[in-house]
Amino acid sequence: MTDDITPTGPSRRGLLTGAAVATAAVAAGGLSLAPTRARAQSSLPADRRMLGGLEVSALGLGVQNQHRTFTTLVPDRNDMIALIRTAYDEGVTFFDCAEVYGPYLCEEILGEAVAPFRDEVQITTKFGFDLDPDTGAFVGVTSRPERIRAAVEGSLQRLGMDHVELLYQHRVDPEVPIEEVAGVVQDLMDEGKALHWGLSECGPQTLRRAHAALPLAAVQSEYSMLYRGREADILPITRELGMGFVPFAPLAYGFLTGAIDMATTFAPSDFRALTSRMDTDGEGGGPRAANMAVVDLAREWAGRKEAEPEQVALAWLMAQGDDVVPIPGTTNVTHLRDNIGAAAVTFTGDELAELTAALDAIEVQGERAPAAVQAWNGAEAPEA
Ligand SMILES: NC(=O)c1ccc[n+]([C@@H]2O[C@H](COP(=O)([O-])OP(=O)(O)OC[C@H]3O[C@@H](n4cnc5c(N)ncnc54)[C@H](OP(=O)(O)O)[C@@H]3O)[C@@H](O)[C@H]2O)c1
Repeated sequence: MTDDITPTGPSRRGLLTGAAVATAAVAAGGLSLAPTRARAQSSLPADRRMLGGLEVSALGLGVQNQHRTFTTLVPDRNDMIALIRTAYDEGVTFFDCAEVYGPYLCEEILGEAVAPFRDEVQITTKFGFDLDPDTGAFVGVTSRPERIRAAVEGSLQRLGMDHVELLYQHRVDPEVPIEEVAGVVQDLMDEGKALHWGLSECGPQTLRRAHAALPLAAVQSEYSMLYRGREADILPITRELGMGFVPFAPLAYGFLTGAIDMATTFAPSDFRALTSRMDTDGEGGGPRAANMAVVDLAREWAGRKEAEPEQVALAWLMAQGDDVVPIPGTTNVTHLRDNIGAAAVTFTGDELAELTAALDAIEVQGERAPAAVQAWNGAEAPEA
């Protein structure tokens, strides 16, 4: 936890310079980088990365919590607008949103915040959840063509934009062939409403089929020092196909910052209360206690690097390759600066190998999501 850290206050564009150093160090250490990505990156400034054909800042900002944090507190809207503008001032140009965040309201906040510099940022939104049109209540997953169209029209209206740089399908619809989804997105691209597209938490076959139908810029999935499931089945494919990987929940919903301890309780509807990996047995044990080993490791390396645990967590992700662009979420400007500072935390190849080996040795316990949500993760679309 870092409310007490003094941000270095780097100037805009001078920021995130450590990312490329880390990448170079990884390459020097002989660890694998996506070759296509390495080539595409070579002409970029240090604080920029490519997601397929889309250039973004090396670290993004997720705005999911900026209307309501994990179902509980409602942050001050003007503070959130100021925070997004601070992020831009300090070099972040990649902002991650979705229709379902709020629902709807996060798009309004983001659109208002970036309006003064709209042309200099890359905006993401997502379709794919069925929301009651009157109440916004969550109904389920859908990528029916008419629903995609309605979602994107609504998103653009709320954002106050005529296009987004990156449009994701939020979850695979098990009833709609991905080729059909790609066809609708192609139409939206032809109309200039989306410049690139991506998938979130898709299965490997759906990823390949989607890319064959309409080339993808990125996959967004959970990825962090606590959850590494996509290293085996999705990252190799995104690299093979030359697209980017956007880790969501890169701080494991705050767990990797050290801000959650054995005494922390969550509101019943807080997502973290529904994930068994944060459960305790009431006697100091359970999955949360076991998983504290990951936080302890981040703390240990924070000590070695004169950094903070969350900076180690983000730096470790960015060091996986310059095709990886994490999008930590925050409602706190001190945390924002702290996260941005992660780009200055670098690892030599040997250090990265040592840290990763230590992570490999920790057996993370519990599930990352409740069963109903897990059923959507890694889903495959039906054949056309
Ligand atoms: N595609 C998907 O299905 C999906 C799913 C989940 C999330 N996402 C995207 O990913 C983004 C990030 O995920 P997330 O926000 O849920 O999880 P996260 O980035 O892993 O963690 C956010 C939590 O960490 C805290 N935090 C952030 N920086 C901190 C720091 N430096 N020190 C201490 N605490 C810090 C935040 O609290 P404060 O607000 O107090 O800083 C918040 O509680 C979202 O905003 C959203 O855009 C996508």
